[in-house]
Amino acid sequence: MQKRIGLLTSGGDCPGLNAVIRAVVSHATLTYGWKVLGIPYATEGLMERKSIVLGMHTMDLRGIDPLLNMGGTILGTINRGDTLDHASQIIQGYHELGLDALIAVGGDGSLSILHTLAQEGNWLMVGIPKTIDNDVALTERAIGFDTAVNTITDALNRLTFTAASHDRVMIVEVMGRKAGHLALQAGIAGGADVILIPEIPYTIEGICDHLTDLRYQWGRKFAIVVVAEGIDPLPGTTGCQVSLSKGNANCGMGQYIADQITARTDRRVETRVSVLGHIQRGGIPFALDRLMAAAFGKAAVDLVSQGKSGLMVAWQNGTIVSVPLTEVLAQSPRSVNPKDYLVQTAQSLGIYIGEPNAAQPAEPG
Ligand code: F6P
Repeated sequence: MQKRIGLLTSGGDCPGLNAVIRAVVSHATLTYGWKVLGIPYATEGLMERKSIVLGMHTMDLRGIDPLLNMGGTILGTINRGDTLDHASQIIQGYHELGLDALIAVGGDGSLSILHTLAQEGNWLMVGIPKTIDNDVALTERAIGFDTAVNTITDALNRLTFTAASHDRVMIVEVMGRKAGHLALQAGIAGGADVILIPEIPYTIEGICDHLTDLRYQWGRKFAIVVVAEGIDPLPGTTGCQVSLSKGNANCGMGQYIADQITARTDRRVETRVSVLGHIQRGGIPFALDRLMAAAFGKAAVDLVSQGKSGLMVAWQNGTIVSVPLTEVLAQSPRSVNPKDYLVQTAQSLGIYIGEPNAAQPAEPG
């Protein structure tokens, strides 16, 4: 019998969502002959019983498939926190749409809500991880991360030239909530001199001593400082007071660090701050995100064909696996391990990355 599969994207958008929609639709329709119903605005669409029939090549322009390299999501998405207040209407919506299974593309927050709904509503559901923060547990990669790393790296390259021309210290604030994967990986790739991430404590003396060494020992008069939005202010000072669990996390830690450097160096160091913001979520997906989207989409459809549920597709040790959603959610958000080889790599490049030996072990979940 022909299956009816629901497909939705939930949480903050990121590059690669349309590529995963394309991959799911392709495999489900061409290999299995199923009908794929796109659910607009995630749970909102289920609540309102809305769906769009998705077919291969229905959106082609002169034979060009726009889904492969379009940013955002053609299905729309939401990242509001009150979804479970409407649980019974959403659960009922899934059944009234006559769905046999749901493929949900989301970060840990969305997947947690949808997993609860799936359990309460007796839905078959398979998850696909996406987030520029790359903090979904049990997968080394989530869709969107690679493109965001590339976008930040490009910004750091551009800032390097203007920084060098004016002998300035450029502070670049990047996203990631309470995880430092974006800052760490883009910071290394983009040639940062200082990388501050939430998982590793830092001192203002450590930062300023490093900037001084760069300038007076190495003759390097400019510097690039990457600041993850979720770092904590220094003890005894006031900084960002906004709760990162409540959504918008961008509350000025880049400016805070710039002010600290200015005060500490008696204004001898000229700083400028760039907050990259949602630029990190836009743009066309890079090759690795398209590749992950294709592999994750295929794997999720295959799991549905086997009648599997409560699982998320994941990337581990160079291949696709499936992992129980309950375990993913118990261990998310995944933090940077201060003993990680990338932290050591940053140190080997002469980057100041705080005091990794003073870091407290991360509490999962
Ligand atoms: O989780 C992805 C993310 O882009 C975070 O890095 C950032 O803090 C947050 O979403 C921003 O959310 P919003 O789009 O609601 O401002």
